[in-house]
Amino acid sequence: MKHLLNPLDFTVEELDSLLKLAGDIKDNPQKYAHACDGKKLATCFYEPSTRTRLSFEAAMLNLGGSVLGFSSADSSSAAKGESVADTIRVISCYADICAIRHPKEGAALVASSHSTIPVINAGDGGHQHPTQTLTDLLTIYSLKKRLGNLKVGFCGDLKFGRTVHSLINALIRYPGMEFVLISPEELRIPGYIREDVLDAHNIPYKEVERLEDALPSLDILYMTRVQRERFFNEEDYIRMKDYYILDKEKMQAAPKDMLVLHPLPRVNEISVEVDSDPRAVYFEQAQYGVYVRMALILTLLGIHVD
Ligand code: CP
Repeated sequence: MKHLLNPLDFTVEELDSLLKLAGDIKDNPQKYAHACDGKKLATCFYEPSTRTRLSFEAAMLNLGGSVLGFSSADSSSAAKGESVADTIRVISCYADICAIRHPKEGAALVASSHSTIPVINAGDGGHQHPTQTLTDLLTIYSLKKRLGNLKVGFCGDLKFGRTVHSLINALIRYPGMEFVLISPEELRIPGYIREDVLDAHNIPYKEVERLEDALPSLDILYMTRVQRERFFNEEDYIRMKDYYILDKEKMQAAPKDMLVLHPLPRVNEISVEVDSDPRAVYFEQAQYGVYVRMALILTLLGIHVD
């Protein structure tokens, strides 16, 4: 039985197959409409979510399966003190596969070690968000026609932004990658990503503070929101929250074929006037999230459609 806890749980070859399957699902949705007839997905979300939970649910429904679950810790027996380990043992009796989001780093790993069904990490604290990474990889592959030989700028809250940590981990496995890490000093990428991931693999990168300086040379700009829920005090959040705002004027300095990605939700970091720019693909990215989660459910359940 396979789980997805970290983007590196799949080899590059397995990821290639998954992305190809997602592409086929996009082009031939009817072929997959009954692939999960009789199967159930549990969504156990201890933290708020719109895209991840609902795209998982849409994915399972598109495959002919059913969904059950909870959307906050308060509406589950976690509010009475039940552990993740006990909860997943019970969920294993009710569902065939489970997607779990939890504010604590490592919660999905704990769940997987007590589960008899595949567990998918739908975000664990500031740690990893592997299905967002699959979404990002599919978006890049579909729109840039390649993974590799890309200069990617990550901008915003690189300290707490788990989507950034997961995507860097995944992208370094492709050749010719280069990163520009754009953040204020206080929100720099964590040391373990810099040292254990980037330095350890000799990946070229630079850290800068000004978005304007980085923009002209990028193939992809990955914007992130400042993660209010991970700050210890509100004053720091308020000081940092509007540090970067991508607007029409700044976009003039960006290459014509640069893509703007954002895992969403967006707060202020991308002005709504940018939404109509053809380079702004973040809503398309959210749609790719359904196809890739359909492919993931099929893969983890070992279901093949001819
Ligand atoms: N991108 C993402 O994880 O969005 P949600 O928090 O809405 O699931």
